[in-house]
Amino acid sequence: RPRVVMTVRSSSTTLSAVPILTKLQRDCATPLPVLRHVADAMAADMRAGLEADGGSDLKMILSYVDALPTGNEKGLFYALDLGGTNFRVLRVQLGGKDERVVATEFEQVSIPHELMFGTSEELFDFIASGLANFAQKEGGKFNLPQGRTRELGFTFSFPVKQTSIDSGILIKWTKGFAVSGTAGKDVVVCLNEAMKRQELNMRVSALVNDTVGTLAGARYWDDDVMVAVILGTGTNACYVERVDAIPKLHGPNSTSGRTIVNTEWGAFSSGLPLTEFDREMDAESINPGEQIFEKTISGMYLGEIVRRVLIRMAEDTRLFGDSVPEKLQMPFSLRTPDICAMQQDCSRDFEIVGSILYNVAGVNSNSSARKIVIDVCDAIAKRGGRLAGAGIVRILQKMEEDSKGTVFGKRTVVAMDGGLYEHYPQYRRYLQDAVTELLGPEISKNIVIEHSKDGSGIGAALLAATNSMYGH
Ligand code: GLC
Repeated sequence: RPRVVMTVRSSSTTLSAVPILTKLQRDCATPLPVLRHVADAMAADMRAGLEADGGSDLKMILSYVDALPTGNEKGLFYALDLGGTNFRVLRVQLGGKDERVVATEFEQVSIPHELMFGTSEELFDFIASGLANFAQKEGGKFNLPQGRTRELGFTFSFPVKQTSIDSGILIKWTKGFAVSGTAGKDVVVCLNEAMKRQELNMRVSALVNDTVGTLAGARYWDDDVMVAVILGTGTNACYVERVDAIPKLHGPNSTSGRTIVNTEWGAFSSGLPLTEFDREMDAESINPGEQIFEKTISGMYLGEIVRRVLIRMAEDTRLFGDSVPEKLQMPFSLRTPDICAMQQDCSRDFEIVGSILYNVAGVNSNSSARKIVIDVCDAIAKRGGRLAGAGIVRILQKMEEDSKGTVFGKRTVVAMDGGLYEHYPQYRRYLQDAVTELLGPEISKNIVIEHSKDGSGIGAALLAATNSMYGH
């Protein structure tokens, strides 16, 4: 008897989860007209953000980087990268045009979870002590002339109102950080104070966003790089802008006539195809109403959106049997790497999906339930990838509009980085498809979307070199 009951239930289960799936697919669909609509709303926000600070969801932050690396940079430089669950420290010996990168060394330290919710001093002390530790191990191929202060490129991947190339005020934390006492302060001062407490003689020569570091790092090898995009825990994009297209830029213009603008596009929100699951996730997040684009397309959130859909299916249609699995009820228990791994499963009975659901969520599933789970993952990844593609296209189109045809007529490179882009093949494909659909085959032949792995560390070190107090 129990066996009969189970059979009946599993087949009716699958049938009744389908309407929820279909509605989800409809609510988050991104056909071309939707993508165009979102892209145009983003363009309007970009222009408003360039007009005046606070004029738009998109902050369009001036990076004060108007000279990109040339290849001539020489000397020993450090970089520190703080932006997600890890921080990285790096040293690089630059050898100039012919030798380029002579040697690099790096270390990665994971940030204890409690520090993301602690005080500013605790966080910066932890970072400075990691940095001091690393600096002590200098030697070998790394050569610092006697008496020279070590110079550091500081990649700080949060919205910062830059006041110069080596100073900037934290506007707010994003990506799950809720450290008290940093917002409104100059993060370079915070780091300097912590370095002083460590008796570390180092100077921040450049404060950069990770997108800006990535653009600089990729440009070092390739002159055609004009845009950089991060798709990782969070998401953002920066690009090379003409200074005459930036009404809010006052003061001396850059000699090159160009500067890098950090869009902070994660804060974009107009016209997005959102579902009830997105709205609930946002309402329960630590920053409700903020970073909506980021919450729709980036790695911190995709798994969580899928989890919420699965909970609804488990409640309304008994997708996983009689009860809603307890483990699955924990927010963020299903992570984006899990949904990515599930989407790679091509086996007949979706055994990988079965074991991931079992390990991560304590869920027993049959193969039709697993198929539904894959379809949910696909709907969410597809929306994310396609929206990211639409954002990239709109930045390129804006550059094309303002430069009267010098972007699409030649090879133009978009440097990409971040774990989501690197590790999620379907996401990457959806992004590329959207770019090709929006631009058409002719123009998209000239647009190269390229992974620039860990370019942001080297990029920050290169910008430290460009802004070295000893000249370069
Ligand atoms: C968040 C930050 C932004 C960063 C992005 C990618 O959106 O606000 O500064 O570039 O994440 O790490």
